[in-house]
Amino acid sequence: MTLVNAEIAEDGTITETEKRTGHWAWKHPHHDGTLSYTELRGDVRFFDMSFGYEDNHMILHDISLYAKPGQKIAFVGATGAGKTTITNLINRFYDVQDGKIRYDGININKIRKADLRHSLGVVLQDTHLFTGTVRENIRFGRLDATDEEIEAAAKLANADDFIRRLPDGYDTMLTADGSELSQGQCQLLSIARAAVADPPVLILDEATSSIDTRTEAIVQRGMDALMKGRTLFVIAREAWNILPALYRNP
Ligand SMILES: Nc1ncnc2c1ncn2[C@@H]1O[C@H](COP(=O)(O)OP(=O)(O)OP(=O)(O)O)[C@@H](O)[C@H]1O
Ligand SMILES: [Mg+2]
Repeated sequence: MTLVNAEIAEDGTITETEKRTGHWAWKHPHHDGTLSYTELRGDVRFFDMSFGYEDNHMILHDISLYAKPGQKIAFVGATGAGKTTITNLINRFYDVQDGKIRYDGININKIRKADLRHSLGVVLQDTHLFTGTVRENIRFGRLDATDEEIEAAAKLANADDFIRRLPDGYDTMLTADGSELSQGQCQLLSIARAAVADPPVLILDEATSSIDTRTEAIVQRGMDALMKGRTLFVIAREAWNILPALYRNP
């Protein structure tokens, strides 16, 4: 199954288009040669899912959950509990041994991996920047994004202010280790990168630890704007790290 640009009529009819509509659909080819489409919504369900990196050592046992489109779900647990592992399975870096994961009602094993990953935004604690301009680093979220879309994403992420104060603004060169930026600024760029991709499902893995509280407030506002209207999986070791964000974004 692949992800295509879609036009969605008032009666719900979906047609595929070359145009960039901002709407997406899963394209199902059927055995008889016909096609059907399902709107991309960000509905994720686990059915009795079990997983271990090695067959004789299971880490997750019989997990079932239902994330409705736009719903926020937190995974809280100690180090090694298996939080990141769950997100590795949604991304299909690994396949489950038992049970199923469905995305918009489709078994994720039937979705082309690249398309599955395009529909998921991941914001990690350590941002991966590469050598290139600030603009290029944000564009990495969606390679065909226009300059206007990049700046809109940076504004949404609360990153536009600091970017404009850099020596060459959006054209400032960065190195892969991000040594020109503070940790909080790196995180703002990774939020902007996720915003430009505009995915219906977001995964935040401990995204706001180890920065000072003032920066954290700025990053948190960017995060709040980013999570609006998206299905969210948020991961933390302790509940107090994430409860405020979940209360602000019910
Ligand atoms: N690639 C891997 N191969 C084998 N075992 C792994 C792999 N990644 C993680 N594990 C093991 O799986 C278990 C769960 O790890 P996971 O990374 O999901 O924990 P976590 O809850 O995200 O922890 P943390 O809060 O430290 O990030 C751990 O026992 C870990 O050692
Ligand atoms: Mg982890």
